[in-house]
Amino acid sequence: MKFFLDSAKLDEIKYAYNTFGIDGVTTNPRHIMLSGKPFMTAITDIANWIKEEGLEGVDKFPVSVEINPHLTDTEEMLKMAREVAGISPNFVIKIPAIEAGIAAARILEKEGIRTNVTLVFSPAQAILPAKNGSLFVSPFIGWKEANGEDCKQYIKDIVDIYKNYGYYGKTEIICAAIRTPKQIADCAVAGADIVTTGLAVYQDCMKHAYTTQGLGTFCDAWDATAK
Ligand code: E4P
Repeated sequence: MKFFLDSAKLDEIKYAYNTFGIDGVTTNPRHIMLSGKPFMTAITDIANWIKEEGLEGVDKFPVSVEINPHLTDTEEMLKMAREVAGISPNFVIKIPAIEAGIAAARILEKEGIRTNVTLVFSPAQAILPAKNGSLFVSPFIGWKEANGEDCKQYIKDIVDIYKNYGYYGKTEIICAAIRTPKQIADCAVAGADIVTTGLAVYQDCMKHAYTTQGLGTFCDAWDATAK
């Protein structure tokens, strides 16, 4: 399973890459806002860091960048997508799962610009992006589970549909808006390719009360051992 960092903050991206070996980054307009930088500066800074690290290439370290969410016309979406894609070979264009977005993603993929169809909330929405060759599809988990839904079956259904039609592994399933380590484990059990979440959730993955307790026990034993 691949781990992507859901952030446009360069210090967090560097930390998560060096500490956890994250495999890529996803951003959205909210993350850009939280970076405190204008859109073009935030994504250019990430592109420059990729170059410095020698990670150039969408296969090495994909970075999803969402186009202006106000755009609902395919031609306008294409114009912005091409401009953003020209900044870095690592950029994957994030497009909303709406009719105009599917049309744009289909054309971009034919041009060799990779796409991530986002804001997916049902298995049915996940089918057309795969049929049209998008690199990623992003079903959101946290937003649904915060409203009382259990997403295990929803992810499993997408995985099963992709397996039924040969999309599995071609269009990779990014479980997005992950809020807890338990959700990461659920997505892994269901067969999702990727999870994306913030730094704090990856840090929480490595915390367990018994690990802390066990370290205390072993420290006491170490200190009491005859020298
Ligand atoms: C990633 O691709 C999604 O945009 C992201 O996971 C949404 O999460 P958020 O609700 O934390 O912004």
